[in-house]
Amino acid sequence: MQESRLKELLSDLTIEEKVGQLVQIPGSFFEEDFVITGPANAMNFTKEDLRLAGSVLSVVGAEKLTDIQKRFMDEHPHHIPLLFMADIINGYRTIFPVPLAQGASFHPALSKKAAEVAALESAYAGLHLLFSPMVDLSRDARWGRVMESTGEDPYLNSLFAAAIVEGYQGGKGADGHPALTEKGRLSACVKHFAAYGGAIGGRDYNTVELSERTLREEYLPSYQAAVEAGTETVMTSFNVLNRIPASGNRHLMRDILRQEWGFDGVLISDWAAIAELVSHGIAEDQKEAAYLAMQAGVDIDMCTRCYAGNLKELVEEGRIPETRLDEAVLRVLRLKNRLGLFEDPFKDADASQEKTYILCNENRKLSREAAAESFVLLKNEGALPLTDTDSTAFIGPFTDSARINGAWSIFAGEKDAVSIEAGIKNAGFSSKTAKGCLFSADYPLQGMGGKNADYLSDEKEEEALLQEAVRLAGACETVVLTLGELNIMTGEAASRGMLDIPSKQQRLLREIYKVNQNIVTVLFTGRPLDLREVSALSKALLVVWQPGSEGGNAICDVLSGKVSPSGKLPMSFPYCVGQVPVYYNELSTGRRYREGDPNKFLSKYIDIPNAPLYPFGFGLSYSAFAISEIMLDRDILPMGSGESIHASVTVKNTGEREAAEVVQLYIRDEVASTARPVRALKGIEKVFLKPGEEKKVSFAISEDMLRLYGADDEFRAEKGDFTIYIGNSSETENAARFSLS
Ligand code: BGC
Repeated sequence: MQESRLKELLSDLTIEEKVGQLVQIPGSFFEEDFVITGPANAMNFTKEDLRLAGSVLSVVGAEKLTDIQKRFMDEHPHHIPLLFMADIINGYRTIFPVPLAQGASFHPALSKKAAEVAALESAYAGLHLLFSPMVDLSRDARWGRVMESTGEDPYLNSLFAAAIVEGYQGGKGADGHPALTEKGRLSACVKHFAAYGGAIGGRDYNTVELSERTLREEYLPSYQAAVEAGTETVMTSFNVLNRIPASGNRHLMRDILRQEWGFDGVLISDWAAIAELVSHGIAEDQKEAAYLAMQAGVDIDMCTRCYAGNLKELVEEGRIPETRLDEAVLRVLRLKNRLGLFEDPFKDADASQEKTYILCNENRKLSREAAAESFVLLKNEGALPLTDTDSTAFIGPFTDSARINGAWSIFAGEKDAVSIEAGIKNAGFSSKTAKGCLFSADYPLQGMGGKNADYLSDEKEEEALLQEAVRLAGACETVVLTLGELNIMTGEAASRGMLDIPSKQQRLLREIYKVNQNIVTVLFTGRPLDLREVSALSKALLVVWQPGSEGGNAICDVLSGKVSPSGKLPMSFPYCVGQVPVYYNELSTGRRYREGDPNKFLSKYIDIPNAPLYPFGFGLSYSAFAISEIMLDRDILPMGSGESIHASVTVKNTGEREAAEVVQLYIRDEVASTARPVRALKGIEKVFLKPGEEKKVSFAISEDMLRLYGADDEFRAEKGDFTIYIGNSSETENAARFSLS
């Protein structure tokens, strides 16, 4: 539809219809017969709200959505189609490793492919918009939602943000927008704007207090990268940022997002975040909350009646100009138009493709590859790869469990996930297995449905499981111990104060160790954990995160040596919870401590080290790599010249296996007008090499990579010396110097 026709349509709408476009209603209302009864009615939506709504959350299925769309459009006075949105975080039905694990692959191009699959599966199921990527910078392992992000680094997060947006939407066309009418191209929704990951204490929904510099240099780049990649929508966040809740924050939404970055797409609130302006204490009632959110720039109200119940009155009273209402409505109509919904309101919904494409072999293959690439080998004293799977016992609560999809895999069935036990069969190993203990959380877990028996059991049963496992361990050469966090211990509203594995699992580890010290631990987790004991008692330690549909197969691929691990930590694994938040790109401080310095009055703890147990960017391989000294093509970069310095290294696979290494470039600004990180990631390249093979990796360093918010608040590079580091972890000391002059 032409823009002029859209504007005509807009001018034809009644004020009630306009408001309707800005109202999102949970799918449960539409599931049956557009009836507003049942528990969801606590939201007080009316029959009229349903008749005029603009979008629907969380219903899926080609037939169902086609039927809802038809019935809805028949009833709507202008037959405007609904937008169907849902939380597709790790994939739709083919589940990929959680975003944190994808971050560990250091391979954004692979995540782009996974996003393409997630979008096409979702498109066949009738969806139009996916609530991801989540690009919140995550430095605090206590926060349950770190599994939804790609970790602690602004640059890495930006690469993944752009890759996933492009995977969903395709690249931008000449008009600056993606071609969303194409099959399988859906709108991304970048969230949560902004700085949701900075919650104090890692407690979900908690306050965020950041300096404008830290916000801009560290937290905002990943959202901006997503906007530059063309995301059509952005979601607000629940948190307060510097005393103003994000969902009513003009500075964030109007000054930065719209004006500075030129974002012209749709801004949607997070779930009930507009109504929560009342709980934040900045609005006295829902009408004031609607006023604040609307003026700050939020276009769609997710799942409350703040807009439905108040916008008309606010416009009639003249408090909200009708032009503001029109601006928001036009954005929603434009998005529907870009998706082609006025021509084809069902878009790609296709019941027969749903049956054949979803979870097809190709998609599973990609998921298996993505999972294997995300695993991080933290320790290996010759125990991996396994040399004799027949004399290896697999023990632990994850061994026969298919509960290996990440939190938010809400449309996927566990029955479609491959457990380790199934992976063992598929690989043809004749290893024996035992449970050892149940998942055994030390505290009640909400959201378990009827399955509490999986993690709480009586002492007698646990004792029998333990004894059986100890007997088996004693009779085998090697034990693969499958331990960790259950998926529901992570995700939204799953912050933790302790970063340990459940005590029953710790006991299992200790008891096995007494009879067999040849332990390979396979660790399932959605966040960095305190692994001191697990690491000390294991000969090898492989982090497999929440690996998704093909987890069991991918784990066997890596344990057996078919695939060499190549993941790197996207978040530092702390020594213990007292260090958290701990991240590599911290500021220098005036009293920087270096390991072994006897001076007491330095920035350090007296009882624990400063360094995390395993740092950002770290991960081992079955092969070995040599990275040469850094070669610079020049060592002075003239300011304002627009030129680059090329820094290169040669990477050689000096081991005996085909494997991949992630070459990482860090830069340290030696002197600047504001305090700078000790080093910051500025480039990555994952290289795949055969034994003996070598490759030159070159990074172009340009002035814009050196910019910072100086003491005068200007965003630009400052002249002086810079140290660059190129190596295979954030701790590399392979360095060279150049200056900007
Ligand atoms: C979450 C969002 C999610 C939304 C819709 C909220 O609770 O914070 O990330 O997209 O629910 O399900």
